[in-house]
Amino acid sequence: MSFRFTNRIQNTPNSFIREILKVTQDPEIISFAGGLPNPDLFPIAALQDAARETLSKAGARALQYSTTEGHAELRAWIAARYARRGVEVHPDQVLVTTGSQQCLDLLGKIFIEKGDEIVLERPSYLGTIQAFTMFEPRFVTVDLEEDGPNLDQVEALLATGRPKLFYAVPNFQNPSGLTYSKVKREALGGLLRRHPGTVFIEDDPYGELRFAGEHHQPLFAHTGGRSIMLGSFSKITVPGFRLGWMVAPPEIIRLAVTAKQAADLHSSTFNQFVITEYLARHDIDDHIATITACYGSQARAMVAALEREAPAGVSFTRPEGGMFSWVRLPADKGSCMDLFDMAIRQKVAFVPGMPFYTDGGGHDTLRLNFSNASEAIIDQGVTRLCRCMQDFLK
Ligand SMILES: Cc1ncc(COP(=O)(O)O)c(C=O)c1O
Repeated sequence: MSFRFTNRIQNTPNSFIREILKVTQDPEIISFAGGLPNPDLFPIAALQDAARETLSKAGARALQYSTTEGHAELRAWIAARYARRGVEVHPDQVLVTTGSQQCLDLLGKIFIEKGDEIVLERPSYLGTIQAFTMFEPRFVTVDLEEDGPNLDQVEALLATGRPKLFYAVPNFQNPSGLTYSKVKREALGGLLRRHPGTVFIEDDPYGELRFAGEHHQPLFAHTGGRSIMLGSFSKITVPGFRLGWMVAPPEIIRLAVTAKQAADLHSSTFNQFVITEYLARHDIDDHIATITACYGSQARAMVAALEREAPAGVSFTRPEGGMFSWVRLPADKGSCMDLFDMAIRQKVAFVPGMPFYTDGGGHDTLRLNFSNASEAIIDQGVTRLCRCMQDFLK
């Protein structure tokens, strides 16, 4: 029997990374392929305390159906957190979602008609490519440079008046680890203000995970609040709660609430109560400082090993936060899929760059995750990988 599935699901790629992760299950493999936060840093005792307190204090309220917009205290906490980053947000502008990944689905539902033009960074976050592909858009891309997107390309695209959305990850991007400079933020803010027909989506799950350099204000500050911000508890507490959020102008929140009602009524009441209790009873800044200290050491170990071992012509990013570094091989030397096969034989894994491109590019790139291995293992893994690169580039 053949099922009559929609074109949109049949044209949406399976998560390539999940496929790769299957190959990397072998415990002897040093894997830089995952994108997981370090589980040793999960605040389990504090969450246990918050869960106990939630059940004894809120009881049934924490287990009942709830409003689509989210738990009021949690929305207020999220809004107040932005004030510390120099951005004024009203709690009514916050929608609590089932991971920030759900925001991408909701935004697709409320903005994207088949064939609509959507601007992405090149490379871009795979989960967004997947979520938006379901709505059959036409992706156009702007090159991501060391300090942010190529602004000439952005301006040329916005000037056509066609792009409906521009999706970006300005802090420690997944996959590249790159961050927009202050100068580019201001210039991009100016461009977006001049072209209000394109809605900017600022996805920022890693912004608080800065271990070097200075924090920047969100782009939202430079667009006069006309853009959308996405945030997440996944990387600053735990991903398993599946809690994220969207901040947007009221017209957008209203429609996103309708779309969310249709999707899942609301995000888990219990998880929202527990995280709110956790935030009230424990110091999340302390916890974030622990995470960034750890990721900072891991990142430095990876960059040091790459600096020591990488063959001539291979370049890589030096992230100031987040969980990823991005490696570029000399062009025209073959596909990183072949390097992947060689690396697996030598028991080291990475994510080949192609799935982060919507135009068939990326054959000379690879993503390395550093948040899930000790410094000694990172050193060993990068050394193995660089030996493979040497053979590959011969
Ligand atoms: C850039 C980016 N956006 C969104 C997400 C989704 O995160 P979550 O749904 O756990 O909030 C991720 C997860 O890795 C990500 O890297």
